[in-house]
Amino acid sequence: MSDFNFDAIEKNLEEEYKAIDSLDALEGFRLRYLGRKGIIAQLTSALPNFSLEERKVLGRRINSLKEKIEDFLKAKEAELKEALRLEKAKAVFDPGLPGIVQLRGYLHPITKMIEEICDVFVRMGFSVVEGPEIETEYNNFTGLNIALEHPSRDVFDTFYIKSHILNSKSEKLLLRSHTSPVQVRVMKAKKPPLAVVVPGKVYRPDAVDASHSFMFHQIEGFLVDKKVRFSDLKGVLYHFAKNIFGQKIKMRFRPHYFPFTEPSAEVDISCIICQGRGCSVCSQKGWLEILGCGMIHPQVFRNVGYEPSEVKGFAFGMGVERIVMLKYGINDIRLFFENDLRFLEQF
Ligand code: PHE
Repeated sequence: MSDFNFDAIEKNLEEEYKAIDSLDALEGFRLRYLGRKGIIAQLTSALPNFSLEERKVLGRRINSLKEKIEDFLKAKEAELKEALRLEKAKAVFDPGLPGIVQLRGYLHPITKMIEEICDVFVRMGFSVVEGPEIETEYNNFTGLNIALEHPSRDVFDTFYIKSHILNSKSEKLLLRSHTSPVQVRVMKAKKPPLAVVVPGKVYRPDAVDASHSFMFHQIEGFLVDKKVRFSDLKGVLYHFAKNIFGQKIKMRFRPHYFPFTEPSAEVDISCIICQGRGCSVCSQKGWLEILGCGMIHPQVFRNVGYEPSEVKGFAFGMGVERIVMLKYGINDIRLFFENDLRFLEQF
């Protein structure tokens, strides 16, 4: 009986059981107790040395010990596997970690401003029309009463498309230098009354610097009806400027010259930075130029087939980059085209 110190075996068993920390250690434990040469096997093989009565008692104890070991094995295996599962799950999804911020797309500040400005005019009843960036020389110049000898026709102010590339009517083609050719397109296609705004890209061969770009955006607007007065133009533009720059701004019209409008004017708003007191943004003038405008020239009406004695109209054109720059205090036009998210995200 001396080898059969069950109390000592059980005490050992429990201590070893507690120390098991891996499936490998658990397998070692199983072999030590239930293996072919394990403790249970050793105890069983010693039984024939005992009397029948003793064997009965010892046999029961060995069996209950074996059951206890088997229960231990099952419990520990379940415990270790659950711990492993949790460990793995943690690597995949840890609810305690901060979430991954999904990046959202942004509209470009120019796109946003075009939408904002067009909206103001749409609410006044204007419709939005677009035209092609490759234009005929006629629509860009001749139709708009820009004479052959007008300096802006010079190749240095316009990107001409190589002369062997002509449209079907053998007209010279160019990248439009303003959005005004869309006036000619729309008026040729439709009869008044008309109220249209035209956003789009325009091109001029300027050297790129803080305030020049060879491509920029304009919004053209024009309205044609039987009776249209300069005061209608003023009212529409005043409403536009207040909606974009704030209700408090003042506005002034300075006489100017455009071949396609008569009379013509440039429009200034009171400086939105200094409210007219004078600062570096308005070059101490207190005023900021925002657009060109005028009453549509009778020759333009004749060119599109309208009878100038029967119709009147006004037109205006503004640079979108300039307006965004003034509104947000941006001092370099190149920022719009560099695709730097740190800049673009701010709008
Ligand atoms: N097309 C002119 C420009 O690009 C702006 C303008 C449009 C002026 C319509 C008067 C009327 O400068």
